[in-house]
Amino acid sequence: MQFLQGKGENKDMIKELIILIVLILGSAFLYSQSRIQFVAKKPERFQPLSFAQADAKADSILAQMTIEEKIAYIGGDRSFFLRSIPRLNLDEVYMTDATQGVHIREKFRDNDLSRYQLEKSTAFPCPLALAATWNTTLANRYATAVGEECRGGGIGILLGPGMNNYRISQCGRNFEYFGEDPFLRSRIIEAYVKGVQSTGTVATLKHFIANNTEFYRRKSNSIIDERTLHEIYLPPFKAGIDAGAQAVMTSYNLLNSEWCGESDYVINNLLRKELGFKWLVMTDWWSVYDGEKVSRSGQDLEMPQTVALKDIQTLLKEGKVKIENINRMVKSILRTYYAMKLSNQKKNLPDNLMYKAHESVALQTAREGIVLLKNESNLLPLKKNIQKILLTGEYVDKLAKGGGSAEVKGFNHRLMLDELKAEFGRRLDYEKNPSIEQIKSADVVLCNVGTEDSEGWDRAFALPEDQEKRVLNCVNNNPNTVVIVTSGSGIRMTDWNNKARAILYAWYGGQIGNKALAEILSGRVNPSGKLPITIEKEFKDSPGYGYIPAGEVLYNNWNGNQEKAHPIYDVNYKEGVFVGYRWYESKKIEPLYPFGYGISYTNFHYSDLTVSKETINENDTLKVSLTVKNSGSQKGMEIVQVYIEDVESSVPRPIKELKAFKKVGLNNGETVMVQFELNKQAFAFWNPKIQDWYVEKGIFVIHVGAASNDIRLSKEIIIR
Ligand code: BGC
Repeated sequence: MQFLQGKGENKDMIKELIILIVLILGSAFLYSQSRIQFVAKKPERFQPLSFAQADAKADSILAQMTIEEKIAYIGGDRSFFLRSIPRLNLDEVYMTDATQGVHIREKFRDNDLSRYQLEKSTAFPCPLALAATWNTTLANRYATAVGEECRGGGIGILLGPGMNNYRISQCGRNFEYFGEDPFLRSRIIEAYVKGVQSTGTVATLKHFIANNTEFYRRKSNSIIDERTLHEIYLPPFKAGIDAGAQAVMTSYNLLNSEWCGESDYVINNLLRKELGFKWLVMTDWWSVYDGEKVSRSGQDLEMPQTVALKDIQTLLKEGKVKIENINRMVKSILRTYYAMKLSNQKKNLPDNLMYKAHESVALQTAREGIVLLKNESNLLPLKKNIQKILLTGEYVDKLAKGGGSAEVKGFNHRLMLDELKAEFGRRLDYEKNPSIEQIKSADVVLCNVGTEDSEGWDRAFALPEDQEKRVLNCVNNNPNTVVIVTSGSGIRMTDWNNKARAILYAWYGGQIGNKALAEILSGRVNPSGKLPITIEKEFKDSPGYGYIPAGEVLYNNWNGNQEKAHPIYDVNYKEGVFVGYRWYESKKIEPLYPFGYGISYTNFHYSDLTVSKETINENDTLKVSLTVKNSGSQKGMEIVQVYIEDVESSVPRPIKELKAFKKVGLNNGETVMVQFELNKQAFAFWNPKIQDWYVEKGIFVIHVGAASNDIRLSKEIIIR
C-alpha cells in the first residue's frame, strides 16, 4: 500500500500504468478470442476410427456375410469401385488416381463413372516438381487440396501418392514420384499422406515395391539385396505408413522372382510385419496370377476385378484356399472402410472459391519447384532494357504434361505463350521454327524443350531429334539463349549446356505453372527449387544403365499383347545402395547437375556451424545449428541441406547421405539461425546380419551445404 501513497504525480502515473495494463490485457483477450474464433471456423480435420474400433465393426459385418458375398468383396467392381452389398449397408466406394490431382474419367471399359464426376479438377505441378520445392508445408497444402477435390467428387480412395524411386532417368513415371533420395521422399510423402487423409480421403501408397521402370513393367524382375531394399526402397513407405496411410497398392513387377502382388515375403513379411502396415492392401490393375498364392500373401483386394481369384470357390472346395484367409482379406478391406467412414460418399461439388484456393497452391508449388540451373552473368531476370525476346519451342502453345493414370486435364490452362506475352508484351515474339536470322537478331532467345513422359513405357534420355536440332540452333546462333526444360525427368543436355546462358528446369507445371515461369523470368519471383534428382551427362553414366535386355529397344505404346508376349527379364540392382548422388560421388563420375542443386537471384552465406556435443552415444540426439545470411540484394528462399558421412565403416557406404533439410525465407541482409536434430537413424545403416538398423561407432562428419556438391561447413563428431 505504501507504494500507492506517493505524491500526486506518482498517483497519476500509477493510474496511467493501471489503465495501460488493463488496455493491454483487454486487447490480448480480444485478440485471443478472435484467434479462437478463427481457429473454430477452420474446417474440422477428419479423424479416422482407431484400429480396434474399426476391427470390431468389421467383425460384426463379417459374421453376417455369406461366402458368396465374401468372395465377391475381395475383387474390385466396375474397374474403380469397392463393391456395395446393400443388404449389409455396405456402400460402393469410388477410387481414382492420383498424386498430382484428380483424374476425371467419363468411362472406363464401358463402365459409366459419371455419378462421381467432378466438373473439373485442378492440375497441379507434377509430384517431382513438388519434391523440387523441398517444402513439406507446401506438400501438405497441395495434398490437402487434392483431398478436398476428392471429397467434392465423392471419391473415397485416392490412388496415390505414387512414390517409387528415381533410379533411371528414362522411367516413364518419374514425374509421378518424388526423386532419388529416400530421406527427401520420406519427408514429402508423410506430409502428403497427412494432407490427403485430413480430408477423410484414403491415401494409397503405391507401388509396393521396387517398381522403377515402365519397360514391360509386368515382366520386369527387380533383383535387389536386403540391405538395399531397406536403405533405399522401404523408408518412404515406412514414412507414409507412420503418417497414417490407410491403403497400399502392390506393384506390377516381380521382386527377386516373385510377383509383388502375390508374394508372402513382400506383403506379409516386408509390408505388414516389418513396416507394421495394418490396413487395406490392393493389387495394381491386372497384376496377380495365382489365386492360391494371393490368398496366402497378405493381399486383400484384387483390382480392378477378380481374375486370379476368379476360381476361388473351386480352390476353396479343393482345400487349396482356406476360409480363414478369405475372412482375413474381407476384414482388412472392411477395417479401412469403417476407419475412414467410407459409407455414403456423395458428390458435393466444391465452389469456385475452393478451386481458386487450390489454384494458388498449384501456383506456389510451381514458383518454388522451378529450378534455376544456370544463369551466366545474371542474364536472368530479364532486364527492362531487353527489347527483342524471341520465344520458341515444343511446349509453348500446348501444355507439357505426363500421361497415363496420373494425367489430370485441369482447367483454365495457362500456356507458356500467353503467360510470357502477358509478362513481356510487345517485347516478345513467338516462332515455332525460327530462321537463323530471327535467332541472331533477338536480344534474348527463350527456347523450350521437353518430353511428354507416360506410364506404360520408358523414354530415351536424349531429346527427340527435332527438338535437339532446334535448341542447338538457338544456342549456336545466339549467345543469350535461355533454355526452359519442361519434362517429367532428367534429359540429356550435354551438347548445349555449355552454350546456353541460362537454364530453367520447369518440370510439368500443371495448369498454372507457366505463370510462375513468367514471374521467374521477369524477376517478380526469385527461384528457390533444387533438384530432387541427379542429371547425368550421359545415360551410360547412371547406376541403372543396362537395364534393357541386350538387343531390345524402347517403345511407346500401350500394346498389352506385346507385353504379354515378352518374357520376364531381370533388372539387376547391381549398384546396391549407391543410387543417385550416392553412385556418382562414390564412382567419381561428375554429373551435369547434382542432386540438391539449384541457384537463386540472391546469395546465401553459411557460417557458425555448431553441434551440441562432439562425442555422443548412439541413442543421443545431436543438435546442429548454423547461421544463414541472405548476402545478396533481394529476398529469397534457401534450402539448407545436412549430409552425414560415415568415415570409418565396415561395410561400403555412400560418401554422404542426406539426413535433414530446411527451407528458409530471408530478406536481403537478413540472418537466421537454422537448427536440426539428428538421431540414431541419421547415422545407421541396415545390417542384414542382425536384421536391423545399426550404428557403427567411430568418426562421422556432419556436412551442411546448399547442394550435394556445394558443402559449405563441416564438423566431425564421434559416436562411442
Ligand atoms: C497404374 C496404377 C493406377 C491404376 C488405376 C495402373 O495401371 O499402375 O498406378 O492407380 O492403373 O488407374
